[in-house]
Amino acid sequence: MSPSTRKTKEHPVPQHIAVIMDGNGRWAKKRGLPRLAGHQAGTENLRRIIRACVELGVRYLTIYAFSTENWGRPREEVDGLLKILESVIERELNELHKEGVQLRHIGRLERLPENLRRKVTDAIELTRNNDRLTVIVAFNYGGKDEIVHAVEQIIRVGTKPEDITEDLISQHLFTVGIPDPELVIRTSGEMRLSNFLVWQAAYSELYITPVLWPDFGREELIKAVNAYQLRNRRFGLLEEEPPKD
Ligand code: FPP
Repeated sequence: MSPSTRKTKEHPVPQHIAVIMDGNGRWAKKRGLPRLAGHQAGTENLRRIIRACVELGVRYLTIYAFSTENWGRPREEVDGLLKILESVIERELNELHKEGVQLRHIGRLERLPENLRRKVTDAIELTRNNDRLTVIVAFNYGGKDEIVHAVEQIIRVGTKPEDITEDLISQHLFTVGIPDPELVIRTSGEMRLSNFLVWQAAYSELYITPVLWPDFGREELIKAVNAYQLRNRRFGLLEEEPPKD
């Protein structure tokens, strides 16, 4: 653990942090820049956050990069976000691989251009044995769509109603094998999940900050982790008895 994270009796550093990287547009607008400049600045910040997660010993980082609803944004912005994904893979993949980062994707790849789809699957394949930090990129992702996809898979193989359990549904989500996030961070102040990990975040602690994503650097991440460490997680149960000596 970094010396700058406060250790408390409540919780260690979360093993899985999920982030709604909101506020790129507002960050750009404040500076009189086009929205895509905000997404570029957000991408640079992502690099800082990945590095900080490695430093803190976080094992899984999920980032909400493009939702199923984002296709409705202006064409120029959609194309810009697809281009950003492509250039992140082209420019950062080798370095991430060297650092032991594994890349995963959640969402539907089908709607992406063929060459980008291939770049994503190649990056996943290249890094599949890395285990320092897994970065899960939610791109063309929607939490409700993910549940629909899981139900389709479950029905397709003729599962009996009595065999349907929470565990079986989890096994058919895009996040299969990944523990649920203990902490979901949303930047730029909006107080909602916006169709992000709706199943997996059922018991996650939420941390919402007015800081815009491009400004949410290492120190802000540490603040979020410290806030999480002080939370009292009860999972629907009552206050825990103090441990007996
Ligand atoms: C929300 O801010 C942000 C997005 C819809 C895109 C986030 C994408 C990146 C940071 C690019 C990085 C990642 C990859 C790997 C492709 P907003 O535009 O809705 O901000 P606003 O609410 O201020 O307008």
